[in-house]
This record gives sequence, C-alpha cells and structure tokens, in this order.
Amino acid sequence: LQKLLVECFPDYPTENIFFNKSPQFRLLAKSGNQLVGQIGVEFRVINNDGQIARTFCISDVCVLESFRSKQIASQMLLRIEELGRKNNVAFLILTTSRKSLYYKLGYRGKSNTFKWFMIQNNRSLGIANRSLGSDTIMVKSISNQKWGKGEIDLLGPIF
Ligand SMILES: CC(C)(COP(=O)(O)OP(=O)(O)OC[C@H]1O[C@@H](n2cnc3c(N)ncnc32)[C@H](O)[C@@H]1OP(=O)(O)O)[C@@H](O)C(=O)NCCC(=O)NCCS
Repeated sequence: LQKLLVECFPDYPTENIFFNKSPQFRLLAKSGNQLVGQIGVEFRVINNDGQIARTFCISDVCVLESFRSKQIASQMLLRIEELGRKNNVAFLILTTSRKSLYYKLGYRGKSNTFKWFMIQNNRSLGIANRSLGSDTIMVKSISNQKWGKGEIDLLGPIF
C-alpha cells in the first residue's frame, strides 16, 4: 500500500500510509495478486448548512501508472457510491486539484465556506474556516438531501 501511494503521490509521507488521519476503510483494486489502486473512505456525519448529513469523505484516489485509463478509478468510485447508497449516505465528498474524472461521474465543485479541524505533522493546529473555491471540493449527492448554500462544518479534519 505504501509503495502504491508513494508511486502515485510524489509528496506522500514514506513513514505513514496516511497524510493527516487514517481513513476508516479502503477500497483496493487488484490485478491478480498485485495491488494496483486504492481509495480511502471515512464515514462522517457533517453539518451541511444547519442540516446533519451522512457522508463518505473520499481520499487518495490512485491507480498505478501502468494501469491507468482503464476505468479502474471510475469503477472504484462507483463501488463506493453503491456502498453509500446501501447505507443511507447522502453525499460523497472529496478534494482534488483536477476535476475531470470526478466531473464525468457526476461530482460538482462547491464554493461554500468550510470549517474543519486542522492537523499537521501529527499536531492539532486549530479550526480553519474558509472557502476553498469551487475547484477544490467536489461533492456528489446520492440522496434526496439538498446540498446547502451556507457553511459546511466538516466536524473533523479535512480528507
Ligand atoms: C487520477 C487517477 C486515479 C485516475 O485513475 P484511472 O484508473 O486512470 O481513471 P479512469 O480510467 O477511471 O479515468 C481516467 C480519467 O481520469 C482523468 N484524470 C487523469 N488524471 C487525473 C488526475 N490526476 N486527477 C483527476 N482526474 C484525472 C482523465 O479525465 C482520465 O481520462 P483519460 O484516461 O481519457 O485521459 C490516476 O491517474 C492516478 O492515480 N493519478 C495519480 C494520483 C492522483 O493524482 N490522484 C487524484 C487525486 S485527487
């Protein structure tokens, strides 16, 4: 897992298999015995503009370079979506610097003000409260619940 993460993300820590906080579970993609992709997921109840919302917070979507453009990431994301739907999850949330993969799957950028608990180098830093611009946080709604226009309190660290 470490090897996959470091290969896919050049800045990935070499001593941990997570950046700031370990995900609750991971979806792994394998080709035979070889690990070729992974996605980290945290189930989190957030405060969505005053409404409680059950969410899956998605992190570290990655696929080994030689296995890319075969829809492996898309299929993993769809599996997580299916799991979310079965478990009454309202929204899938992730941060990204490139939107194309997620946009094709129905995720949309959100420019709300977000509040989250900042962690860096295994230390608590305090509460952040700002908009990250609609290019950074993407959300897919998988229920009838509406995404609010006001503040989104992530009730924990960002992912
Ligand atoms: C992003 C990534 C997981 C896509 O995996 P994949 O299995 O090739 O994805 P799919 O085959 O389902 O979809 C491919 C599409 O994803 C999009 N894409 C490519 N690189 C991307 C990236 N870094 N971020 C978001 N989308 C990307 C493109 O639209 C691509 O379409 P194309 O193959 O026609 O060019 C893979 O490129 C990767 O591991 N990159 C390095 C790690 C990374 O940047 N992860 C994203 C963190 S937000």
